[in-house]
Amino acid sequence: MCGIIGYIGGNDAASIIYSGLQRLEYRGYDSSGIAILNAGAIDMQRATGKLANLLPKLTHFQATHSSSNKQVGIGHTRWATHGGISEANAHPHLNQDGTIAVIQNGIIENYVELHTELQQAGVRFHSETDTEVVPHLLDLRMRSGMNFEQAAFAVLRRLRGANALVMMCTAVPGRMIAARLGHAGGVAIGHDEATGEAFLASDVPGILEHVRRVTFLEDGEVALIDAWHTDLRKLDGTTVQRSAITIAWDPVSAEKGEYRHFMQKEIHEQARAVTDTLRGRVNFESGEVTLNGFDGVRPTRIFSVACGTSKNSALVGRFFFESIARIPTEVDYGSEFRYRDPLLQPGEVVLGITQSGETADTLAAMSEGRNKGARVWSIVNSVGSQAERAADATIAMRTGPEIGVCSTKTFLASLVDQYMLACFLAQRSSDASIVARGHECARALALLPGLVGRMLDVDPIYEQLAQRFHDRRHFLFLGRGPNYPIALEGALKLKEVSYIHAEGYPAGEMKHGPIALIDEHMPVVCLTPQDSVYAKMVSQVEQVRARGGTVIAVITRGDEVIRAKADHVIEIPPAPELLLPMLTAIPMQRLAYHMALRLGCDVDQPRNLAKSVTVE
Ligand code: AGP
Repeated sequence: MCGIIGYIGGNDAASIIYSGLQRLEYRGYDSSGIAILNAGAIDMQRATGKLANLLPKLTHFQATHSSSNKQVGIGHTRWATHGGISEANAHPHLNQDGTIAVIQNGIIENYVELHTELQQAGVRFHSETDTEVVPHLLDLRMRSGMNFEQAAFAVLRRLRGANALVMMCTAVPGRMIAARLGHAGGVAIGHDEATGEAFLASDVPGILEHVRRVTFLEDGEVALIDAWHTDLRKLDGTTVQRSAITIAWDPVSAEKGEYRHFMQKEIHEQARAVTDTLRGRVNFESGEVTLNGFDGVRPTRIFSVACGTSKNSALVGRFFFESIARIPTEVDYGSEFRYRDPLLQPGEVVLGITQSGETADTLAAMSEGRNKGARVWSIVNSVGSQAERAADATIAMRTGPEIGVCSTKTFLASLVDQYMLACFLAQRSSDASIVARGHECARALALLPGLVGRMLDVDPIYEQLAQRFHDRRHFLFLGRGPNYPIALEGALKLKEVSYIHAEGYPAGEMKHGPIALIDEHMPVVCLTPQDSVYAKMVSQVEQVRARGGTVIAVITRGDEVIRAKADHVIEIPPAPELLLPMLTAIPMQRLAYHMALRLGCDVDQPRNLAKSVTVE
């Protein structure tokens, strides 16, 4: 979970940046670095491991600091995505002659293409990272006559994926340029107008000791920052007017930042959550998956055990384990597993999925598995929790704290983690075709942060739906294949936060009962992305329409067939079939959020619910 800090001003930039990075340490990282532009040159120091390893190197900067000139500085804590943990891979990254420095959070989806292009132009790389393409691209454009600002816009327009970037250049000594693309992690900027200092951070707590009024970058925006002010632009260069927000001096407000609710914030953090959970685990070029702690022995069967949202996630995961790794998988409620006296064999695995890691029913099911001789694995968000301690191997979701009681980003991360685990297990098969599929599916994950980012664009449809349907007492959600559990999750989300009764069903089951409920008062959410069961879903939509039901369809962009049949559509971008549930899940969350908002419900703390259910 990379952290970004930037500073312009007359004080000791290195110390200010270091203390900002310290405040972001809790997010996790594996290396760090700081670059300072002072007296016309960029100095850089980097270190692997704890931030404290960078501390002795700060004296280098302090020796050259004089309070008479304003310094520009950028600092970064890295969690590896492309390339291992090394000083060379730590950020910042420089161009050939060290006149441009760049830090980045996220994944540059098209970096292979950019890297090849730069190599052909004679550029020598010093790291294995995707980020290093950026200073070199800037450099080439500046050599061809563009100024720093023009080069920055040109390069940013070429990047694909979800990225937050900050760059500086000796040609413009008093300036930083920052950008947020594809709903990457945040970028917050504040100024001290009395002293002429600018502060920037990926997360507000990183700069809150210096500034209380901050401006947040939206997706597709670029900030031209100098000591006294920030000029906000869109990627096409047009000016953006936005007032700064005052952040209250308490940890909760600081953490919530620009959002009204944690649920809203956590939904919007999902492109970053996906990037963070993939970091260092997937090599996007080879498709190789590395999962620390997993011995690589393929289980003969997986029993996934979980509750609530995590159980819905496990139902999607079954498709990943069976389709990618070809391992038979069963899914049980944590609360039911032990009461069916499950038949477990050596060589089988019980996989507990739980964001809190403390859900009593899931822990009991894991312990049942252990007692019956199975190996026990877990996927958890809360590091150090019981579900981690009770397992032989664990995948940490790494989404950062999820404060909203309703699970959103942890749901998505747990889907990604199961998909990754399925690729890892496929790659350990003795069947070459399964191994190849494991690599192919893992490579596709490079697209995911960008695809998820596109699902988070401003879209008036959610408010429109809330306006139209908030007074309905019942909703039906239908899906097929891996989108059936997403229908369950859509219904659960709506119930939890808006208290509207909702049912999720496999679409093919509708005719066996729920069809009796359909009339003009029943909104039916149909998950109809263009996948292998699409044609079947088209006929389900017809059946709902024939009974007077109102269809809200989640469609692949450009699908005019369903658009013509549905009353309302929510679009998702085209994507590989097994990634689709990770996209269709997001409209479920956004719909529930807006319905709850419209109804004035307590979104973050719905009645009767707890974040961690530690009783059976
Ligand atoms: C999610 O929105 C719910 N609050 C609930 O269903 C939750 O998923 C369930 O209690 C399991 O929690 P866990 O993931 O912490 O085990």
